[in-house]
Amino acid sequence: MLAAALQLRAPSGSVSLGSNLLLAPIAGWCELAWRITARSCGGVGLACTDLLSPTGLICGSEASYDLARTHDLDQPICMQLYGGDPETLADGARWCADHGATVVDINMGCPVDKVCKKDGGSKLMCDVPNTFRIFEAVRRALPDSIPLTAKMRLGWDEAAYEQGVPEALAVGLCERGAALITVHGRTTEQRFKGQCRREGIRRVVDAVGESTGRYDGTPAGGVPVIGNGDIKQPSDVIGMMRDTGCAGVMIGRGSFGNPWIFREAWALQHGTDPAEVAPTQDERLDTIKAYFDRMIEFRSEHHAMHVIRQKISWLGKTINAGHCRQLKDDVRTAKTPADVHAAIQRWRARRPDRAEQAADRSTDPAAAAP
Ligand SMILES: Cc1cc2nc3c(=O)[nH]c(=O)nc-3n(C[C@H](O)[C@H](O)[C@H](O)COP(=O)(O)O)c2cc1C
Repeated sequence: MLAAALQLRAPSGSVSLGSNLLLAPIAGWCELAWRITARSCGGVGLACTDLLSPTGLICGSEASYDLARTHDLDQPICMQLYGGDPETLADGARWCADHGATVVDINMGCPVDKVCKKDGGSKLMCDVPNTFRIFEAVRRALPDSIPLTAKMRLGWDEAAYEQGVPEALAVGLCERGAALITVHGRTTEQRFKGQCRREGIRRVVDAVGESTGRYDGTPAGGVPVIGNGDIKQPSDVIGMMRDTGCAGVMIGRGSFGNPWIFREAWALQHGTDPAEVAPTQDERLDTIKAYFDRMIEFRSEHHAMHVIRQKISWLGKTINAGHCRQLKDDVRTAKTPADVHAAIQRWRARRPDRAEQAADRSTDPAAAAP
C-alpha cells in the first residue's frame, strides 16, 4: 500500500500535510489541548477545530474564541465554520484567516437541529446550487494561500443518496476550488446508526476522480477525498483506503481513548507492524497527564478538572487493557490538580500485573533487549 502525505491546493500555492490521517472535528473532543496531545502522539496530518459559529467569532464570543484558540504546536490547523448565510460565512472565514487557520472547512454534514435550523450543517446538502454560491463567496473572501475544504455526508436521506446528491455536491465544490472533500459514510437521517457505507464514499471518490483527475499527490493530480466513519483500529484505515480508493482517512471516535491510532495507522501504511510503535503503559500515563496539564495551561484548572473527570473512562480504556478502576476512581474523585497528578503517579508506582508487563515487553524495544 502506497502511503502518501497530502497536498492541499489553494489558488496560490499549497499546504503539505505530514500524513494522510486527519483528526476529526468532534464537538467536545477537539479543543486545543486535545489536538496538541493527539499530534504529540504522532501521525496526525491535520487536526480540526470544533464547529465554529462565524457570528460568535465576529462578535467576540468567549465560547467561540475558546473553540478557535490555536498555538504554534497546533499546526497545520483547520478551522471549521457552520452556517448558511454566504456573507456571514465569508466574514467568519476572514476571521479564521486572520487568526492562524492553515485551512478553512465548511461543515455540510452536522445533523444537529440547532445547526440545521440555521440552514447550516447537513442542510447545505439539500439545496446544492445555493451551497455552491455560499462556497464561492467564502472562497472569494479567503486569501489565495488558504485552502478551503468541505466535510459532508452521503446526502440528507436515502433518496438523496440514490439520486447522486453527494457526488454532484462534491464534484461541484471541487470545480469551485475545494482543496479536499471529507465524506462521512452515512446519510443525515442515519445520524450515527448502522455501519459506515464505504460504497457511498467510493462513489464520491470515483466521481471526483473522473472530474478532477484522480488524486496522486502530484501538482497535476486531482482533489483528495478523505474517507470517514467507524475507524477503530489501524487496519480499518487500510480497509477504508482499499474499499473506497480515498486518499486519506479522518478518525474521530476511534481516537478518544487511543490517540496513538494515527501513528500506528501511518506505520501500517508503510508496512510496519503497529505493535512496534504502540505506546508503553508509561507513555499512556504521560499522555493523560500532558493532556490534563495542557487544559490547565490553555483554559483553566476548573475546566481541566471537569473534563478529566468526564473523560478518564475513555482515556483509561487502553491503560492495562481498561482494567484501571483505581486510576479512574481516583481521578473522578480528585478535588485538585495535585490529586489528579497523585492519582496518575500512584497508578504508575503500583506493581504492574503480568498482562501489563507482557504488553510493555512486546512494544518497548528496550524492555525486550537482553
Ligand atoms: C459527539 C460528536 C460531535 C461531533 N462534532 C462534529 C463537528 O463539530 N463537526 C463535524 O464536522 N463533525 C462532527 N462530528 C462527526 C465526526 O467528525 C465524524 O464525522 C463522525 O463521528 C464519524 O467518524 P468516526 O466514526 O471516526 O467518529 C461529531 C461526531 C460526534 C459523535
